[in-house]
Amino acid sequence: MIASALIAASALIVTIVAAPNYYGGNESYNTNDGIPICQNYRAELQVLDTSKPPFSSGLSFTQVLRSSTGSPDRQIPHQQAIAWISSKTPLPSSGLEPLEIVVDKTSPVDPDQFSDKDVVDALAATKQKMDALAEPARLRARARANPYEAIGRSIFVNRSAVKMANLDALCDLLGVGARTGGQRGFFFADLCSGPGGFTEYILWRFATRGVPARGWGITLKGDQDFNLDRMARECRAKEFFVPCYGADGTGNIYKTDNIRNFTQTVEIGTQDEGVDLVTADGGFHVGGDEHHQEEHSKQLVLCQVLTMFLTLRK
Ligand SMILES: C[S@@+](CC[C@H](N)C(=O)[O-])C[C@H]1O[C@@H](n2cnc3c(N)ncnc32)[C@H](O)[C@@H]1O
Repeated sequence: MIASALIAASALIVTIVAAPNYYGGNESYNTNDGIPICQNYRAELQVLDTSKPPFSSGLSFTQVLRSSTGSPDRQIPHQQAIAWISSKTPLPSSGLEPLEIVVDKTSPVDPDQFSDKDVVDALAATKQKMDALAEPARLRARARANPYEAIGRSIFVNRSAVKMANLDALCDLLGVGARTGGQRGFFFADLCSGPGGFTEYILWRFATRGVPARGWGITLKGDQDFNLDRMARECRAKEFFVPCYGADGTGNIYKTDNIRNFTQTVEIGTQDEGVDLVTADGGFHVGGDEHHQEEHSKQLVLCQVLTMFLTLRK
């Protein structure tokens, strides 16, 4: 696993202000989905001094929604803290390799296994109340609940890249390679990752800091395939990223042979070192059955976790 550490709190106060004139005064502005948000408001994102109470660790963001019609400001705190899972006993350098991987139908999700069933039921009941909302209203609510939606996709292929920028602010991606002991630059694997926003951000971040980085990815062929041509020029994605589609050429990570094929490609590319970072973001439409999304995705999550253990630096 990547090294264990708790990211130190920022001692600085940075303010990013989306002033009204950025968006034409009181006019609404659009997210990438074309959803108008922040009508009559301006949004400010502030990185607060988290070394002082009430914050204990991690970066924290406050969104200030300011009414242009003179009503008082409304503060919506967005605290973000991270915790690392680490292993006190050294991980075995081998063990998974000889195991047969059987991808089969998984058992139903047991809400009591890692969580509290009452909390899960209460959440489901609350989510069900949103079923009656028209789609534009639901998307508008989503956009207003998350200040990062205001950033859109920035210079990248999609919003996933901006999510990775958020994780970078919390986890210091540039420092990960140093912590995992890589000597030949930073290696990463990006699973279920088309069109490639995570990859684009990682390559862009390292390239613009002059640190060598190289990545391998696997994703389903089709309309969400990797789109290296659209990635920022600085990434030089075709040079530093290897798209893989497994033994059968479909990119389907459910298949044992595809997982094995991807693992071997990474082993050869990293000269058996493994990668410093694995990111995974597999997802698909669940055909209106969003309330059981976890059940639908459980198998995909397991395959990604397994592939992570097979490719991560030990
Ligand atoms: C939310 S998108 C990933 C976005 C990506 N993180 C990015 O930065 O652009 C989900 C991806 O999972 C892929 N996916 C879904 N099921 C998969 C499977 N069985 N095997 C491989 N990829 C899969 C989809 O094709 C899609 O590319």
